[in-house]
Amino acid sequence: MSPAVQLSPSSHAHAADLILFGGTGDLAMRKLLPALYRCDLEGRLAPETKVIALSRGGLGDTDYRGKVDAEVRGAGAVPPGDPGAWDRFVRRLHHVSVDVAAGEPDNGWTALGELLTSGRTRIFYLASPPMTFGPFCREANRAGLITEDSRVVLEKPIGRDLASARAINDEVGAIVAENRIFRIDHYLGKETVQNLLVLRFANTFLEPVWNSRWIDHVQITVAETVGTPGRRGYYDHAGALRDMVQNHLLQLLCLTAMEPPARNDREAVRDEKVKVLRALRPLTGADARRHTARGQYGAGRVGDHAVPGYLDEPSGTPPTEQSARVETFAAVEAEILNWRWAGVPFYLRSGKRLRSRHSEIVVQFKDVPHSIFSTGGAGPGSQANRLILRLQPSEGIHLHLQAKEPGPGEVSLRPVPLSLSFAETFQTRVPDAYERLLLDVLDGNPTLFMRRDEVETAWSWIDPIISAWADDVPEIYAAGSTGPGGARDLLARSGRAWHEDGLA
Ligand code: BG6
Repeated sequence: MSPAVQLSPSSHAHAADLILFGGTGDLAMRKLLPALYRCDLEGRLAPETKVIALSRGGLGDTDYRGKVDAEVRGAGAVPPGDPGAWDRFVRRLHHVSVDVAAGEPDNGWTALGELLTSGRTRIFYLASPPMTFGPFCREANRAGLITEDSRVVLEKPIGRDLASARAINDEVGAIVAENRIFRIDHYLGKETVQNLLVLRFANTFLEPVWNSRWIDHVQITVAETVGTPGRRGYYDHAGALRDMVQNHLLQLLCLTAMEPPARNDREAVRDEKVKVLRALRPLTGADARRHTARGQYGAGRVGDHAVPGYLDEPSGTPPTEQSARVETFAAVEAEILNWRWAGVPFYLRSGKRLRSRHSEIVVQFKDVPHSIFSTGGAGPGSQANRLILRLQPSEGIHLHLQAKEPGPGEVSLRPVPLSLSFAETFQTRVPDAYERLLLDVLDGNPTLFMRRDEVETAWSWIDPIISAWADDVPEIYAAGSTGPGGARDLLARSGRAWHEDGLA
């Protein structure tokens, strides 16, 4: 294994001032601060590293530390125990009130400047809506806070279509060089996603069969049980295609389909990913409608809980006409037009309020060309080999093989999994994706972050699908189900079916 694919150096990451714009927001409280605390607990943060939260909140350091204590530790987002380590972590935290939109001459920048350490790397982490990325960089730069070696981290989504993504990339790029812009897609930090690269490029047995000759199709599923309570403001203008498919699912597709890069480094990996995106068969108009499905959840039950439909989710604002048009489930049949993959469908689907939380990549191999067994031979797909990379829950790899049922008489076949559970095999905690990605930012390693051309190429494939959907309303599916019938029809047309083990 090359050193670059290991989780992180055993020593701590470089010291930095980490400025967290959106420091009181949901992402900071749910993901970023718990991840930073974990890194600290394991000795991976340099002692000097400071975390400076920015928000419009008008909080002092003490208020902010109390808020984090209540919302992160109090909510059980970090392991209990070791109060000494928690106190040490909390002492790294500061808060400065900044309102980028207010356009006042100082607006908190002076206070921020006073907290920053001269000569130390500055990392501006923008955990805020995409339309703030450009103005934030402009104002921080005008205040003289963005130095030569500052890095900027942008949370997805980068825009809501190609034009807005380009505008953001232009604005931020006018101030910060591309190699110092870290566009986060947290799926790239997940252990199984890392393991996909290792599985494909540190083993020899898969490569000869990793192509259209042996593979029937690929399914990529990210199913969630959560709905969108409190997120209508964002979600009405996003939907599942923009929120999940444009980034997370396309990234998984790229890593599954890309050619072996020459090195595991920043440009080689990203060069190969972007080639896959460029080779996607464009989906437009009626063709886009034929090769996609969309749905919106209605009321139903998830586990033991009755849950409302999308339009009745509690939210600060009442539903609008747009709310009824937005999809909470999207499925797409993609095809990669190159020598390795032409003719192999890649089915992508993602939805909210589905039966179970379940994410995986399923590589379905073709049937044996001829079966010598009278039972369980070359049937339609279900008996053929299948490789499953499970991202969540229980990260692991499962290879379904045909085995003989024990017993005398006629040979009877049954598919059985050869399973690798990361938690059991390595007897270690699987770190959250944000831990890995934050350490990579601190170490200045952008390999697992999206380059400008990747983001824009992904949007240029997604935009025509969004246009094709403009006049449709999504099909309603019951919360707690496996999604809309249209998604099943998408595969049924070619005699295939979704792999529902995790969802059923
Ligand atoms: C985010 C989306 O990027 O990913 C959310 O905005 C989604 O809508 C989340 O719930 C899923 O991430 P994970 O790691 O829980 O699968």
